[in-house]
Amino acid sequence: VTTSRITLHMVSSLDGFIANADNSIGWMDSKDVYEKGIRDEDVDVAAFLAAIDCYVMGANTYEHALALGWPYGDTPTFVLTHRALPVTRATVKLVSGELANLVNELFRPHYRNIWMVGGSALTREFLRHSLADDIRLTIAPVVLGGGTPFFDHIGREQRLHLKEVSAYRNGFVELWYEIVKD
Ligand SMILES: NC(=O)c1ccc[n+]([C@@H]2O[C@H](COP(=O)([O-])OP(=O)(O)OC[C@H]3O[C@@H](n4cnc5c(N)ncnc54)[C@H](OP(=O)(O)O)[C@@H]3O)[C@@H](O)[C@H]2O)c1
Repeated sequence: VTTSRITLHMVSSLDGFIANADNSIGWMDSKDVYEKGIRDEDVDVAAFLAAIDCYVMGANTYEHALALGWPYGDTPTFVLTHRALPVTRATVKLVSGELANLVNELFRPHYRNIWMVGGSALTREFLRHSLADDIRLTIAPVVLGGGTPFFDHIGREQRLHLKEVSAYRNGFVELWYEIVKD
């Protein structure tokens, strides 16, 4: 598929953390109200999720998702790992190897709308090697003060094009950037 797009998607605190020290996720449940924000009922979540053709994630994100309850439905999911992690779903595949090879041989030729959903280590690899097209960062209305950073010393500068900004009624803000190819 020549039109494939890889989107890096993450929810972070305002201070840039995607997980807190004890890996609990209560901070993602907002009690905030932003009156001018987009309402839940105005978002067709089902249609949005149905448009995602596959998920890609790192081993640690996968283990966390297994522990929390699987949020990715029956959409094909590739887990990057060197370990023999437990797999109970037919839609989950464990893969390993050079990231660029996986992207160009396994993901892009077969899937159009590809979502890389974590975590920090994998985000760094995708950005370092220019393997992603978009970044969608959802900022929760909270300062966590520490934890796992979304952008962890990427090691290179990267220009971005702002495609869309969405503010939600629960105080979440989504920044959608296209990665400018050099
Ligand atoms: N807020 C959010 O939206 C969000 C989303 C996702 C995750 N998270 C959080 O982020 C944290 C996880 O992030 P993380 O940076 O620790 O880890 P991660 O990016 O999820 O996983 C990194 C691991 O993936 C494996 N891996 C990476 N590249 C590989 C390759 N080319 N081939 C084979 N295996 C490869 C390695 O594990 P092995 O060698 O051990 O297999 C590596 O240690 C968790 O706390 C999670 O809760 C938050």
